[in-house]
Amino acid sequence: MFSYILIAIIGYLLGNISTSYIIAKRMTGVDIRTQGSGNAGSTNVMRTLGKKAGAMTFIGDVLKGTLSVLIAGLIADAMKVDVMTAKYIAVVAVVSGHNWPAILGFRGGKGVATSLGAMLAVNPVAALTCLGIFIVIVEVTKYVSLGSVVGISCSPFIMLYKHNVSGLLVTLFLSASVIYTHRANIKRLINGTESKIGDKKKNK
Ligand code: G3P
Repeated sequence: MFSYILIAIIGYLLGNISTSYIIAKRMTGVDIRTQGSGNAGSTNVMRTLGKKAGAMTFIGDVLKGTLSVLIAGLIADAMKVDVMTAKYIAVVAVVSGHNWPAILGFRGGKGVATSLGAMLAVNPVAALTCLGIFIVIVEVTKYVSLGSVVGISCSPFIMLYKHNVSGLLVTLFLSASVIYTHRANIKRLINGTESKIGDKKKNK
C-alpha cells in the first residue's frame, strides 16, 4: 500500500508542474490563467503566445504524464507490487495534479496533453487511436476542445473492447475529467461561440 501511496504522491506533484504557467511567466511575466480562455494549457498558450510556446507547453505536459507512469513502473518493480496497478494510479494522480494543482490554488489545465502522455506509457495503441481521432476532429472542425473531449471519451470503448477492467475504470475517470474541465467549452460549442484553432479572441 505504501508503494501505491508514494506513486500517487509523486504523480500528483509532477502534475502540479504547470508547463503553461512556467512558460508564460518566463516569457511575459503574466499568469496564463488571466489570458485568453483562462486555461493553463497548450491551446491557450498557443493562442496567446504563439505556436512555438504552445508546442513547448504541449511537449512538457505530455512528458510529465509519461514520466509519472515510467517512475511508477520503476517503483513497482523495486517494491514488488503490481506494475499495472501502479501505472494506472500514476495516470489518475498526474492528471489530477495537472487539473487541480495545490501549488496553483487548484486551478490548472484541462488534462488533455497529460492524459495523452500518461496513457502513451500504459497503453500506446489506445493513446494513439485517441490521438488519431483528436487530429481528425480538429482538422475537420478546427475545434481543439471538441477533438479533446471526443478523443479522450473514446478511450473507455477501447478498454471495453479489450476487456481491460482497470483500464476501463481509469479511462472513465479521464473521460469524466475531460468533460468536467471542458464544461464551459461544451456550452460554447453548443451555442456557437467556441474559438476555433487560430482564433485570438477571448472566450473565458
Ligand atoms: O486542451 C484544452 C483544449 O481542449 C481547450 O483549450 O484554451 O480552448 O479552453 P481552451
